Amino acid sequence: MDAAIRTEGLSKNYRSHRALRELNLEVPRGVVFGYLGPNGAGKTTTIRILAGLISPTTGSATVLGNDVVDRCEDVQRHLGYLPGEFVGYPDLTGAQYLRYLANLRGGVDWSEVDRLAKRFELDLGKRFKTLSHGNKQKLGIVQAFMHRPELLILDEPTSGLDPIMQREFLALLRETRADGRTVFLSSHILSDVEAVADTVAILRSGELVITQSVEALRQQALRRLELTFSDPPPVDQLKRAAGVQEINWDGGGTVQVEVAGSTAELLRIAAPHQIINVVSHEADLEAIFLDYYTARS
Ligand SMILES: Nc1ncnc2c1ncn2[C@@H]1O[C@H](COP(=O)(O)OP(=O)(O)OP(=O)(O)O)[C@@H](O)[C@H]1O
Ligand SMILES: [Mg+2]
Repeated sequence: MDAAIRTEGLSKNYRSHRALRELNLEVPRGVVFGYLGPNGAGKTTTIRILAGLISPTTGSATVLGNDVVDRCEDVQRHLGYLPGEFVGYPDLTGAQYLRYLANLRGGVDWSEVDRLAKRFELDLGKRFKTLSHGNKQKLGIVQAFMHRPELLILDEPTSGLDPIMQREFLALLRETRADGRTVFLSSHILSDVEAVADTVAILRSGELVITQSVEALRQQALRRLELTFSDPPPVDQLKRAAGVQEINWDGGGTVQVEVAGSTAELLRIAAPHQIINVVSHEADLEAIFLDYYTARS
């Protein structure tokens, strides 16, 4: 089966500014794919091309097997799309606006709209212009999901959502993936991406810096462990364990160790030495993401 999204040499210039340069991206079906990068990197530009709203300068892209330029209507029919700045008609209520969109698109079961609105505690009776920022965003989420599309392309979907709603939204993404559907999202909230994405791509100045599974990035990430021994810690032996980057020991029973990748050898060396406690801190993926945002390439 075709990939959910495929781009080949996709480039976009705004006059002389090269917003996107030769992007080659493949997003398989049934995954949550995080699209990251600093402000102005080209994320929204990519997303607007994929949604068939602007055309590429060179290169091509297919969405669910349809070329985004030649078969733009097919692309849009099968897509759930949330723009970065979602705007509805100011004087229509949420329900009126969703009805309007549902009539245009077809294939919307209204009970799905009710279910989503209830889940996100959104009052569909209010006029768009009277909604708070977060509630406008929720309406955008409902319209993107209401026809249960095969593929969702979401530009900063959690922007403006409170922490409880963010969590609800991440749960919705996991359910969407469990249905075998695909989610492509941009976000600046790295913890969200870390929590839900299978794969991330990081864009910088219009160029792809890395595409990697979150699992593989987690393997590379530095993990911090605190090992407490009842006897004097075997500091010299621990230093030699695979992956150990740094050891801090204040002369007491506890050593703090930073390890890249697997902690297996470290723990094997520590085990025979009357170890009484191990505290393991989550691998810091955000630090890895941020490295790719700046100098590394
Ligand atoms: N319509 C436009 N006309 C001219 N330049 C544009 C236009 N849209 C975007 N750009 C430029 O293209 C580059 C990429 O913008 P884009 O909006 O894709 O970035 P982004 O990665 O979505 O950033 P952010 O994280 O701030 O949303 C930026 O330098 C931006 O100024
Ligand atoms: Mg953007």
